[in-house]
Amino acid sequence: MKSIVIYFSKTGKTKKMAEIIANNLSENNSEVTLLDVLDAKLSDLADYDFIFLGCPARGNEELEKDVFKPFVTQLVDLNLDKKIALFGTYGWGNGKYMQGFREMFNQTNYRLNDFSLAINNNALETSSSIIKDFVEKVIR
Ligand SMILES: Cc1cc2nc3c(=O)[nH]c(=O)nc-3n(C[C@H](O)[C@H](O)[C@H](O)COP(=O)(O)O)c2cc1C
Repeated sequence: MKSIVIYFSKTGKTKKMAEIIANNLSENNSEVTLLDVLDAKLSDLADYDFIFLGCPARGNEELEKDVFKPFVTQLVDLNLDKKIALFGTYGWGNGKYMQGFREMFNQTNYRLNDFSLAINNNALETSSSIIKDFVEKVIR
């Protein structure tokens, strides 16, 4: 099994969550590639069984618009038959930006798992079991 974890992170919170996800994937015997979205290439994705995409809440409950959203828009256009899982961190809101993130994959061939995981950035340290559960549900 091969997984790739691609994230955008300005202040390191979503990067931290991405690292925890990557560690959990390794512990579940997946080969893992962890990449900042700035270094990710759409052409590399065909190799992977699972694609994890992570972005913090930005704007008004939006995805980051200059780098991450354009990347996801191009990924959506590729319309691959791939399993995708979405995650991220947020500050003062409640993670509702995840809904719009999920909707980007409506009417595509991508297979999203039943839930996405948004975590308040204050709760990252205490969320390791939630993140572990999330990873295990995606790959099982
Ligand atoms: C420009 C900007 C917009 C943001 N908008 C939201 C928002 O709409 N809702 C929210 O809950 N947090 C918002 N935040 C807080 C970030 O989502 C939060 O600090 C997140 O953990 C940052 O992740 P990062 O360290 O990976 O960049 C915003 C932060 C920035 C800098």
